[in-house]
Amino acid sequence: MQLEGRVAVVTGGGSGIGAAMARRWLDEGMRVVIADHSPGRLDETARALDAGADLLAVRTDVSDAGQVEELARRALEHFGAIHLVCNNAGVGGEHGAAWEQSLAGWRWAIDVNLWGAIHGVRSFVPRMLAGGESGHVVNTSSLAGLRAMPYTAGYSVSKYGIVGLSEALHQELRDRGAPIGVSVLCPGPARTPILDPTRERPPGVAGPASGDDPEAAVQEQATRELIERIGAEPHEVADAVAAAVREDRFWILTHEGSLEWVAEREKSLQALAPPPPATLDTLPARRRS
Ligand SMILES: NC(=O)c1ccc[n+]([C@@H]2O[C@H](COP(=O)([O-])OP(=O)(O)OC[C@H]3O[C@@H](n4cnc5c(N)ncnc54)[C@H](O)[C@@H]3O)[C@@H](O)[C@H]2O)c1
Repeated sequence: MQLEGRVAVVTGGGSGIGAAMARRWLDEGMRVVIADHSPGRLDETARALDAGADLLAVRTDVSDAGQVEELARRALEHFGAIHLVCNNAGVGGEHGAAWEQSLAGWRWAIDVNLWGAIHGVRSFVPRMLAGGESGHVVNTSSLAGLRAMPYTAGYSVSKYGIVGLSEALHQELRDRGAPIGVSVLCPGPARTPILDPTRERPPGVAGPASGDDPEAAVQEQATRELIERIGAEPHEVADAVAAAVREDRFWILTHEGSLEWVAEREKSLQALAPPPPATLDTLPARRRS
């Protein structure tokens, strides 16, 4: 897909991988809309991107269908077309055993991560089809969407859902002969503030600051340390996304060893055996070149 002169929308564009994708699309000569529910992060990133009329920042809670619809309407009105949509906004969710995660924690992960991407597909794809130009949808899942790890069931459920959404969407657009490609981004650990303990989270979600569930706090801290130790830089993830969009490639992996890590699950499926342990120390650590 040709990128220069075209229009990209990135949800969760106020931080981390989303902000890096926005930077990348601007560098490619695109006009960019960043959307984020956090006004502070949105403003700060818009200032850092310093792209003048090529950038529009829209405060959006992606868990709210009406707000995503309004985002799509404003993006189209402002730039006249939408070619590339990155449904990327996400949260780390609550840590803890599946039966111990709070209802608020389950809802948080699924509402933002999965419903956010579903709302994005429902609001943007019809407008892209109506525009009649070539385009691309990138949905951000995770390696956790291809193999579930213990103590992050809410996150995994949301990310498995995004893989299913993307697989179906890809086939449907191909069946219709639409010039719109689909990719699903499955990063390994990336060095972003996604688990920043000082970040806002909905009432009732356990975590380091809540003191509700010490075990959840311990698990979250271990993941945070791992991200810091072996995480890819957000711009490296954005590079992988840009290459896949250009090549119209469905799967986007960011770490060497990702396929092998996922294959452990496939092997257990083939053998009708229980899933092998997928603890933090089994995760692929090296970035793909
Ligand atoms: N960092 C990692 O290790 C990692 C690994 C695999 C997948 N991912 C995925 O990558 C995506 C980006 O995460 P990141 O690591 O850059 O984290 P991040 O926290 O740096 O960025 C996520 C952004 O999403 C925004 N957001 C949260 N809830 C929102 C909502 N309701 N509406 C709109 N925006 C909202 C946040 O404000 C934040 O700016 C997420 O979907 C995440 O699950 C991250």
